[in-house]
Amino acid sequence: MSKTFHVTTFGCQMNEHDSERMKGMLESLGYTETAEQQDAGLILFNTCSIREKADSRFISYLQLAASYKRRDPEIVIGVGGCWAQSVKEDVFRRFPFVDVAFGPGQVHKLAEFLTSESLTAQGFFEFEGFTGHLPEKRARSFQSWVQISVGCNMKCSYCIVPSTRGRQVDRPLDELVAEVRAQVAEGVREVTLLGQNVNAYGREMRAGAGRGSFAQLLHELDAIDGLDRIRYTSPHPQDMKEDVVLAHAELDSVCPHMHLPLQSGSSRILKAMRRTYNRERFLDRVALIREHNPDIALTTDVIVGFPGETEEDFAETLEVCEAVGFDGAFTFIYSPRRETEAAELVADFVGHEVSVERMDRLVEVIQRRAGEQARRFVGRTLDVLVEGSSRTDAARLRGRIGHGKVVNFSGLAEPGEIVPVAITSATSQTLAGEMSLLARALT
Ligand code: SAH
Ligand code: SF4
Ligand code: F3S
Repeated sequence: MSKTFHVTTFGCQMNEHDSERMKGMLESLGYTETAEQQDAGLILFNTCSIREKADSRFISYLQLAASYKRRDPEIVIGVGGCWAQSVKEDVFRRFPFVDVAFGPGQVHKLAEFLTSESLTAQGFFEFEGFTGHLPEKRARSFQSWVQISVGCNMKCSYCIVPSTRGRQVDRPLDELVAEVRAQVAEGVREVTLLGQNVNAYGREMRAGAGRGSFAQLLHELDAIDGLDRIRYTSPHPQDMKEDVVLAHAELDSVCPHMHLPLQSGSSRILKAMRRTYNRERFLDRVALIREHNPDIALTTDVIVGFPGETEEDFAETLEVCEAVGFDGAFTFIYSPRRETEAAELVADFVGHEVSVERMDRLVEVIQRRAGEQARRFVGRTLDVLVEGSSRTDAARLRGRIGHGKVVNFSGLAEPGEIVPVAITSATSQTLAGEMSLLARALT
């Protein structure tokens, strides 16, 4: 097999980050990355299983890789991530051309497989807690992800993640601070803390060295010189306490953005989802957050068509979205997942057409309110972390404000610079602006 690899990543930022580790580990073993899948000797997939669509997209990619392998039997095909974990050894029965499969916590086992003499298919699906002390290959040198915990202890009735990523295990606080400090020394300016339920961080940890709360983690990271921005995803409304809310107000580097997943605005549906908060509690959290951070951007996740969702339930979701006025939202049609509690409520499934129609109405509210919210930025000059050139116009630049919004703007700057941009217009999705040369001269 040629020592070249290609990784296709599906799913969330956790997976993006695991892929960085896969790449870093492979490069340390002497492999080089190819731009195209068909040029690689080792074809890897980092999979997601959150909704049915994620599964079917991946399987069509996998079939394509199988066709390359029919032409060149030396090619090795590996499947990692949440889908692999959820089907386990079954992957080899369904797709006999797969050589190695591993769950999200088992990235390091890929190295074991590649350096072993074994020619037989191998699967690695143990939960071992955090195993990722691997080199990582960051897509941008100035932005990093740091996984603060693995797994999830919640039991949301629709969700496959607890079964693909196991129980929550938190990494020691001092280890996280040291990791971020080392990244900052390498040029990182913005870090995104990752976990399924980040603000439950520390709760399950035993007393002793390394223990801490999420708010404490934010404080210690804020104290690192040279770290400009701290982001995190996702917190849980149940665990959104005043200490984290205040950290946004008090700490300069904690970005004025919070992604707080609502899922539904109906207390009855939230209960069936086992979300452990109701509509009032969610609205109360939003009020607390805005009391201390009037300008913060709030984004969310919403599921429509959860089993048993009536028109009245859905109307409550619309009401909450109207009332909060999110700066943006990811919206999903409920998808039954294997071995989850909600998938058994077959008699209550909401028809696809009804779900699609509700989704249209939801998207209208979300976009209208996000557009209204975005107008508050017009006329202001805001710091933008430059990410590269604009996707629609190569002559312009693209970056993000602290609130998380993408800005396309004219100006001259290098990726990784933070520059002042005067915001001139806004849509529900993006902002446009001009780099403020005068302001820049003064900074
Ligand atoms: N741990 C994160 C979410 C991870 S999954 C959290 O709790 O916020 C990201 C989003 O996918 C969820 O917030 C939810 O809105 C959506 N999702 C998860 N399972 C789903 C399913 N079975 N059908 C539709 N959407 C789902
Ligand atoms: Fe899934 Fe709920 Fe855990 Fe998020 S908190 S990963 S939605 S079980
Ligand atoms: Fe992420 Fe998908 Fe797994 S959303 S946690 S990669 S199921």
